[in-house]
Parts: sequence; C-alpha cells; structure tokens
Amino acid sequence: MGFLKEFSMQFQHPRGFWGEVAGHILALTTGSRNDWTLSKLNIHPNDHVLEIGYGPGIGIYKCAKNIHSGKVIGIDISSTMKEQASRRNRPFIESGIVELKVDTVESLEIPTNYFDKIYSVNSVMFWEKQGFSV
Ligand SMILES: C[S@@+](CC[C@H](N)C(=O)[O-])C[C@H]1O[C@@H](n2cnc3c(N)ncnc32)[C@H](O)[C@@H]1O
Repeated sequence: MGFLKEFSMQFQHPRGFWGEVAGHILALTTGSRNDWTLSKLNIHPNDHVLEIGYGPGIGIYKCAKNIHSGKVIGIDISSTMKEQASRRNRPFIESGIVELKVDTVESLEIPTNYFDKIYSVNSVMFWEKQGFSV
C-alpha cells in the first residue's frame, strides 16, 4: 500500500504520529462543517450533548462554549484523538463541562432520557464500513 493510501486511513482511525498529523489537518479543515452542524442543533446552556467521533475535538470545543450547566460527552475510537482533543478542551474538562471517552459507536449504550442532542461530523461513513447501519 502506498503512503498516501495508508495515510488516508488515519482519518478513519488516527493512530500514533501520523494520526496526530491527521488530527491537525482535521482541526484546520472541519471547522465550518462543525459550525453548520451545531447551528442546526440550537444548543442551550443546560443541554446534555453527545458527539460521536470527535477527532481533534473542534466540534466539542465549539459546542462546549455554549454550555454552562449542561454537559458535552464525546466518544471516539481513537486514543490518539482523545489525547489531542483533551489538550484542546482542557479548560472545559477541568470545569466538568466536557468528558471525552475512547469508545466505539458499535458498543455505545446511550442512557434513556440523558442526552438532549446527539451529533456526529465526518464519521458516519466509517461506521458503515464496520457493519454499523444508520
Ligand atoms: C474524519 S474524522 C472526523 C473528526 C471530527 N468529527 C471532525 O469533523 O473534525 C472521523 C473520526 O471518527 C472516529 N471514528 C471512526 N469510526 C468510529 C467508530 N466506529 N466509533 C467511534 N468513532 C469512530 C475516528 O477515530 C475519527 O476521529
């Protein structure tokens, strides 16, 4: 497999050094798509929100800025992205607004009546490859 093909797979499951690089590319390029998605959700300060596949944590950061008494929880399959997104969202994590987990959508158990809003950006096409249907 050529380098470019191999590197492109980092966007599905970022790992290690090249995963970290892929995360930085995502952080530079996906802001407007995250903005658009969040604009449709009408986030309220007391909302409990779940993002699936948070990657570098740009969407988490933009969402958390609107939350005061609520919570933003993120799950992502990649521990490399958890580290990068945690650096980006450290103040929100320390204040208890954001919680980031390593988990897969396939094994996710969503508690009844907890989340007001659930969203995902640039990730669903990877779930389908792993047999998850939406
Ligand atoms: C292309 S990135 C998008 C990241 C971010 N949402 C953004 O727009 O910048 C896709 C993300 O989905 C995550 N992902 C892929 N398959 C997943 C799965 N089955 N469960 C949870 N996360 C997954 C990847 O680890 C990666 O961080």
